[in-house]
Amino acid sequence: MTLVSVAQVSYLVAAILFILSLAGLSKQTTARRGNLLGMAGMAIAILATVALALNTSERPWGVTLMLILCVLLIGAAVGMHRARTVEMTQMPELIALLHSFVGLAAVLIGYNSYLTEGHDAMHLVEVFLGVLIGAVTFTGSIVAYLKLSARMPSKPLTLPGRHALNAGALVASAGLLVWFLAAPSLWPLLLMTVIALALGYHLVAAIGGGDMPVVVSMLNSYSGWAAAAAGFMLGNDLLIVTGALVGSSGAILSYIMCKAMNRKFLAVILGGFGGETSSSSAGVDGTHQEINAAATAEALQRARSVVIAPGYGMAVAKAQYPVADLVSRLRDQGVQVRFAVHPVAGRLPGHMNVLLAEAKVPYDVVLELDEINDDFAETDVVLVIGANDTVNPAALDDPGSPIAGMPVLEVWNAAQVVVFKRSMATGYAGVQNPLFFKENTSMLFGDAKEQVEAILAAMTARV
Ligand code: TAP
Repeated sequence: MTLVSVAQVSYLVAAILFILSLAGLSKQTTARRGNLLGMAGMAIAILATVALALNTSERPWGVTLMLILCVLLIGAAVGMHRARTVEMTQMPELIALLHSFVGLAAVLIGYNSYLTEGHDAMHLVEVFLGVLIGAVTFTGSIVAYLKLSARMPSKPLTLPGRHALNAGALVASAGLLVWFLAAPSLWPLLLMTVIALALGYHLVAAIGGGDMPVVVSMLNSYSGWAAAAAGFMLGNDLLIVTGALVGSSGAILSYIMCKAMNRKFLAVILGGFGGETSSSSAGVDGTHQEINAAATAEALQRARSVVIAPGYGMAVAKAQYPVADLVSRLRDQGVQVRFAVHPVAGRLPGHMNVLLAEAKVPYDVVLELDEINDDFAETDVVLVIGANDTVNPAALDDPGSPIAGMPVLEVWNAAQVVVFKRSMATGYAGVQNPLFFKENTSMLFGDAKEQVEAILAAMTARV
């Protein structure tokens, strides 16, 4: 058996491990195993690739090995440092930044492949498409990173005739492809790269804050296709398979999220949503009632059924740990406590599930929107902990609202709602929330973690 065929078999094993990893990641109970399988697949893939590179290198193998080890060490050191220090709430930014690297890598591989290899038509098409997708992914991901980290306003950039601009960029790229095939040179490639970089910037800049989750998973999909294109250019089957897996799973996730937010996929991709605040709900006003921790503790101890709707604020406050204590305390007292998790609560898919799992909340009390939305009418107390857009009735009542049509947790149907937040400020989509002014809603102002701890203290004092 030659080294090449060993590497091919290793690639096959790695590809199967990646598929099993994705399957494992789809459920909380098997997610840990899924991660381990993915890590094993990646280790095998890297070993096989390094062995192949050493085998085909024209330099002495020791030099090639040193070069590979150097870049591996630099990449691993930076990656490990970021992974250890990143806050859960900054995860989407990090993911967006990592996608930009995939895009940049596809562009560099494309140029390298054009400059060093033959110019047959098939190869030229691979290079052109690889650079095109890579460049769109690169600038698109950087804009997503800047928006998510609030370094750029999350309002959509709505240039006049923006759809025509996007279509024009694609038509121009198609023309440049014809030129590139007819007379291969760097010019059409360079011109297309500039257009694709601008297109990536414009596509994501046109998308508003509320639709950002879809953009992140859409860019995830693009980065997969960019990797697959790089696989074609390098003749690397594993990269093609892995890229296609990432590309299609990202596309499926984007579709699922669009459904969760009641957005048309195409409309999100074409942009212009999610940032307007000109709706009637922007001017919502009224009087709100306040409650304190002691009174909340009393209401909880009287309740038979409690539902907790967590959101981004719970993550910021790191309130999941005292929340988990509160849940076990109430359960010990015979109160039924469940969590209602909205598909886009927080800042990334599964954000709340990860936090609750981290705090050791049992999986079986963590329910999805569809599973719990009809139960609010029979619920005594709902604690909305740092959630805002995901519990906004305007999504159902106000057709002019930027989040109109998005399914929301109908917490207001419960007997009593307590909202934990620090002020009357709006949530991510920048829309005011009429829930705060409802008769059965009280605001518990302050940091979510401190307030939950105060409730725990009040409960201890009452015993
Ligand atoms: P948001 O609508 O963002 O509201 C979070 C609330 O938490 C804010 O109103 C804030 O109010 C409060 N808060 C912040 N820090 C707090 C603290 N330390 N203690 C207590 N409260 C605190 O959250 P959500 O309901 O989870 O909705 C998610 C939003 O993000 C949606 O619009 C969604 O589309 C978007 N988004 C989601 C994702 C994914 S995939 N999940 C990705 C990107 C964007 P105060 O400032 O008054 O405290």
